[in-house]
Amino acid sequence: MSTVFNFTFVPWFRSVAPYIHMHRGKTFVVGIAGEAIAAGKLQHIAQDLALIQSMGVRIVLVHGFRPQVNEQLRAKGHAAKYSHGMRITDEVALDSAQEAAGQLRYEIEAAFSQGLPNTPMAGSKMRVLSGNFITARPVGILDGVDFKHSGLVRKVDSAAIHRTLEFGAMVLLSPFGFSPTGEAFNLTMEEVATSVAIALQADKLIFLTEIPGIRQQPLEPESEDNPIDTELPLAAAERLLASLPSAQQPTDTAFYLQHCVKACKAGVERSHIIPFAVDGSLLLEVYVHDGIGTMVVDEKLEELREATADDVGGILQLIEPFEKDGTLVKRDRTEIERDAANYSIIEHDGVIFACAALYPYPEAKTGEMAALTVSPQSQGQGDGEKILKRVEQRARAMGLDSIFVLTTRTMHWFLKRGFVQVDPEWLPEARKRKYNWDRRSMVFVKKLG
Ligand SMILES: CC(C)(COP(=O)(O)OP(=O)(O)OC[C@H]1O[C@@H](n2cnc3c(N)ncnc32)[C@H](O)[C@@H]1OP(=O)(O)O)[C@@H](O)C(=O)NCCC(=O)NCCS
Repeated sequence: MSTVFNFTFVPWFRSVAPYIHMHRGKTFVVGIAGEAIAAGKLQHIAQDLALIQSMGVRIVLVHGFRPQVNEQLRAKGHAAKYSHGMRITDEVALDSAQEAAGQLRYEIEAAFSQGLPNTPMAGSKMRVLSGNFITARPVGILDGVDFKHSGLVRKVDSAAIHRTLEFGAMVLLSPFGFSPTGEAFNLTMEEVATSVAIALQADKLIFLTEIPGIRQQPLEPESEDNPIDTELPLAAAERLLASLPSAQQPTDTAFYLQHCVKACKAGVERSHIIPFAVDGSLLLEVYVHDGIGTMVVDEKLEELREATADDVGGILQLIEPFEKDGTLVKRDRTEIERDAANYSIIEHDGVIFACAALYPYPEAKTGEMAALTVSPQSQGQGDGEKILKRVEQRARAMGLDSIFVLTTRTMHWFLKRGFVQVDPEWLPEARKRKYNWDRRSMVFVKKLG
C-alpha cells in the first residue's frame, strides 16, 4: 500500500471522527423528494443512509412521489390538478398515489437490501420497517375547492416510531395517512417529514431536494459571488420567509424553507436543505464541517449577541486568565471599552461565557478575529464554534472575503475549522505594522464561502 495513501487516509478518517461521535444515538428524519428517485439517485442515497445508520444514527426516511404520481396519472390519461399549491386528490389521483407509493416502497426496500461484495453495501444489514404511524385528516374545502382525498397530518404515533428505531430498524414512511374511519389520505412528503421530526423531537430534519440550498442573496441568480448560505439562524430564516412570495412549487425558495422554519420553531434544532444532484450530499452535510446545503439552526438569540459598553467588565473577567497565562495578548481596558461593539458574546443568566472580536481591514477585504475565548467550565460544548460562526456572519455582512487569527497555541482548533496557515507577510499592511515579531504568532486565514 502506498505511504501517500496512509498520509491522506488516516488524517482524513480522523477528521471525521468527531462528527461520528457527535451523531451517535441521534435521530435524523430524512425527506427525499420523489424527483431524486426519478433521477436515478436512489442507490447511492441508500448506500449513504446505510453508512450513516451503521454509525449509530437512528433514521426515519420519508419519500416523496410527485413525479411518480404524475406519471401514473399521465398513463391513465388523467390531468394532475392543483390548487393553493396542493394536489387535489380525486379517486383516480388516489389510485395513482397508492400505486406509485407501492412501487417506490419496493424499490427503496430493494435498495437497502443490497449487499454485493466490493460495494458500499457489503456487510450491511439494514432493516426497513413501515407502518400506519400517521393519522390524517382531510384538507376539506378551501375557498370552494374540494381537495377530496388530500389530507394533512393529524397525529404521529411517535411512541411506536421510537420503539421501531430502538429495535435497530430504519423507519420508512410514504406520504399517506389514515383517518380513524379507515380512509386513506394523500399527504405531502414535506409535511409528513416535518411533523414526524417535531413529534420525535429529532436532532435533524434533512430534505434531499432539487434545489442546492438557499443562496446568500436568495432572490438573486446563482453566481460565484452569491454562494449557498450554509448556515441560516432561525430568526434570519423567519425574516427571509416573511419577505418571500408563498411557495407554489418545490423549486420556489420558500418551499422547503417554510418546513425547516416550522420544525426549528417547534424544537428540532437543525433542519437542512441539500441537493440530491450532488453525489454523497448527505455525507458531506453530516460529516464535513461547513456542509454543502443550507442548515437552518435554532441558536438562542438572547444568548448570542453583540456586546455593548455594559459588557466590558464581563469580557475582561473572561479573558484575563488567558492573558495572564499568555494564551491571549493583553489588551487594555480602554481599548476594549472603545471597541466593545466589535465583540460578539454568549451570555447566559447575565454571565458572559464566550466572546470574540472582529477587527475589519476593509482595504484588504479581510478582518481579524481576536480574543476568542470560552470560559474553562463551558469549553468543549460547541460555544467556540458558535462564536466563530457569528464572527463569520458579521464579516460576510461587511463584505469581507476572509477572516484571520493570530495564535501561538490554538492552531489545531482553527485548522479543524477550515483555516489555513499563511506567512505573516500575508497580513494587511496596517496589521503587519503592529505584528509582534518576538511573539512569533502563527497566522491562519479562513476564506468565507
Ligand atoms: C479555543 C476555544 C475558544 C475553543 O472553545 P470551545 O467552546 O471549547 O470549542 P468547541 O466546543 O467549539 O470545540 C471543542 C473542540 O476543540 C478542541 N480544542 C479546545 N481547545 C483546543 C486547542 N487549544 N487546540 C486544539 N483543539 C482544541 C476540543 O478538544 C474539542 O475537540 P473535539 O470536538 O474533537 O472534542 C477555547 O478552548 C478557549 O477559550 N481556549 C482558550 C483561549 C484561546 O486559546 N483562544 C484562542 C486564541 S487565538
